[in-house]
Amino acid sequence: MGSPFTPDFGKTPTVLAARDTLTAAWARALRTPDDRLRTSVLLSPRGTGKTAMLNEFEDIAAQNGMLVVAVDASTSGIAERIFERIELARELGEGVAGALRDQPSETAKSARLNLGLASIGWAATQRLKPKWSLRRILTHLAAASAEQGSAMLLTVDELHAADIEEARRLAADIQHMSKRENLPLCFAGAALPFFRGVIRSDRKLSFFNRCAKPLIPPISADEAAAFYKSAVTVAGGSVSDEASAVMAVGCGGNAYKMQHIGDQAWRLGEAPDREIDDNAAHEAVTAAARIAHDDLFRPLWDELTTSERRILGRLADVPDTLHIAEFATIEPDPDRLDAAVTALADAGCVDYEHITGTLSLGHLGDRDSIIEASSVSRHLQASRAAIDTLPRRSASDDSSGITCGKPMRRVPGNCTLPPSHSGRCRSKR
Ligand SMILES: Nc1ncnc2c1ncn2[C@@H]1O[C@H](COP(=O)(O)OP(=O)(O)OP(=O)(O)O)[C@@H](O)[C@H]1O
Ligand SMILES: [Mg+2]
Repeated sequence: MGSPFTPDFGKTPTVLAARDTLTAAWARALRTPDDRLRTSVLLSPRGTGKTAMLNEFEDIAAQNGMLVVAVDASTSGIAERIFERIELARELGEGVAGALRDQPSETAKSARLNLGLASIGWAATQRLKPKWSLRRILTHLAAASAEQGSAMLLTVDELHAADIEEARRLAADIQHMSKRENLPLCFAGAALPFFRGVIRSDRKLSFFNRCAKPLIPPISADEAAAFYKSAVTVAGGSVSDEASAVMAVGCGGNAYKMQHIGDQAWRLGEAPDREIDDNAAHEAVTAAARIAHDDLFRPLWDELTTSERRILGRLADVPDTLHIAEFATIEPDPDRLDAAVTALADAGCVDYEHITGTLSLGHLGDRDSIIEASSVSRHLQASRAAIDTLPRRSASDDSSGITCGKPMRRVPGNCTLPPSHSGRCRSKR
């Protein structure tokens, strides 16, 4: 059997780690009409598992007989895509429940849609027209779900990448349907954390502001170790306790990195023929660190401001935490320092402990990556510091031998002072 790991973005994992609390809360919310979680936006950094969680939300809703419409907002034309997806679901026909797992996401999403359509009845969707607006399509589908005593779920991934006008329209439509028309529409969106700033500053997006923001917490070392045991065993392999502990610590709580470490260990450890041992585990952690640097850290670093990079650089030099006051030399303005720390915390690069006012590196703030990424400025700073330690010469003790050389007015000879001397020329010092 092949590797049970999914070292990629947006892939449904074979084993979902550390999300029991959130999936239970979501299942409860779907049974409770006024539960706040029924309109949710997941905000968390790259590779933490937003898409995987949305897929889980969709599966739970589909299993409850709800109609699930899933789109991502990174390309415009959400209404057109929903229409196309419904057409695709109709073509796929019934009996595709088995396609829900391990399928390319488009097929899996259509399968979910198909299950929902089967439960609300095909007739309900037959009157959909390709030119309908998003609001009209959603109203039609939600009303049909309501007639069946069920509800509808709309999920929108990559909300941060949406065209701003389309995002505003989406916000207004969902708000209108769920609040004013009282239609049974549940909504779950996913976005990178900087979207929080966008929705706070744009009144037309305030619907997203009012949505619940359930946490997607970093995966703890114990949860990651349990994940490795379970994923490897399910695929017919075995992994030593020591190896799974090494891998669990190595992933630092990030789902994407966790999958890459598992996949590398599976290959390097020649699983399933041999047990994955701690040697393979150590090698896997090293190999995955490079991948995480390129895929997770570097894109983040490229987006940071100079102050944010310097804050990270300073943190990378200490073993644990630093008080916020230590960064006043980098960013003296308290509001700007606050904004920089918030941006870094949102990106998963730092953890800010507001009671003690201390900062530490977050699960995406990999020390080695920071040191590597800031290498040029570190070397520059180091050579500047070295230059600064050289004894400074005053104009009068210039020993280079170069002189002003102007002819003296009253005495024969030339000025012997350095070229940039102050005051009058002199023939003797
Ligand atoms: N709870 C989890 N347990 C195990 N694996 C997970 C979990 N969550 C996500 N993964 C795996 O990690 C990878 C990254 O997850 P996902 O693509 O959902 O992250 P994301 O937050 O949506 O990233 P991006 O911000 O780039 O869209 C996926 O391929 C998935 O298989
Ligand atoms: Mg995603």
